[in-house]
Amino acid sequence: MEYQKILDTIKAETLNKTSTGKVATYIPELAKIDPNKLGMHLYCINSGHYGFGDENERFSIQSISKVFSLTLAMSVLNDELFDRVDVEPSGDPFNSLIQLEYEHGIPRNPLINAGALVIADVLVSILENPKQKFLEFIHKITGNTSITINPKVFESEKKYSYRNASLLNLMKSFGNIKNDIETILDLYIYQCSVEMSCKELATAFMIYANSGKTLSDDVQIISSRKVKRINAIMQTCGFYDEAGEFSFRVGLPGKSGVGGGIAAIHPGYYAVTAWSPPLNPKGNSELGMYALERLTTLTGFSIF
Ligand code: DON
Repeated sequence: MEYQKILDTIKAETLNKTSTGKVATYIPELAKIDPNKLGMHLYCINSGHYGFGDENERFSIQSISKVFSLTLAMSVLNDELFDRVDVEPSGDPFNSLIQLEYEHGIPRNPLINAGALVIADVLVSILENPKQKFLEFIHKITGNTSITINPKVFESEKKYSYRNASLLNLMKSFGNIKNDIETILDLYIYQCSVEMSCKELATAFMIYANSGKTLSDDVQIISSRKVKRINAIMQTCGFYDEAGEFSFRVGLPGKSGVGGGIAAIHPGYYAVTAWSPPLNPKGNSELGMYALERLTTLTGFSIF
């Protein structure tokens, strides 16, 4: 497959589209990003790296971090983790409180905020220095120790975390949060404020395409059975109330973030990332989704 040629076509097509999306502003620091940034990176198991545009510029990974925190928790715990968080699509916005009340404080899945906050609580309980361990995990799967947080984004989100604090308080009232709310919020906001480029994110996501192993040095980070489950959760829950639409249009497991990034994988073949800051009304990168749809359309190849 002539992947670079296909990516060049996707670049031209995407630049030609006028985005109707809006950059996230609820974290003031994210509102400062240039909406015209556009990057894509494809990392193939058999043939290496392809990309275009701002593929090497770091951006805020935000909710994409939820896949890494889930992986870290699942690498330590087994099925007992899923007594505290379910694996069903929510069909609601990422920060919704509504289901938690009538579902007794058990979040629908680990990729909505409520679920990711339970995972952060678990990490606070099981890890010695969870913020450092989280960064070390990313360093291990990318082979790149320069990846870190953006302190301005971290501080900015800390000032506006009323809704995440509400989710934690509501779940704590049901007994599903064990640690101090501020400590959990601190970890969650820290993981969201990590910055990575499209190329670095595609390298990190290779473990989900490659049965739990890094491609460069063949290290088993997590078992292939657990990766199958993480990929299933990404497929059904990675885009909140747009998970069906992403499956319908793109046909790959993936995860979005309000920084405008999307990471997706084709198990056994590749990891791919796209970055364009303007978000559609569901909070997913509008042009990122378009670029990924063009990839599976032009290659004639998705998991379906
Ligand atoms: O919890 C929040 O509001 C953010 N730090 C992360 C949200 C996010 O990226 C949702 N994604 N599409």
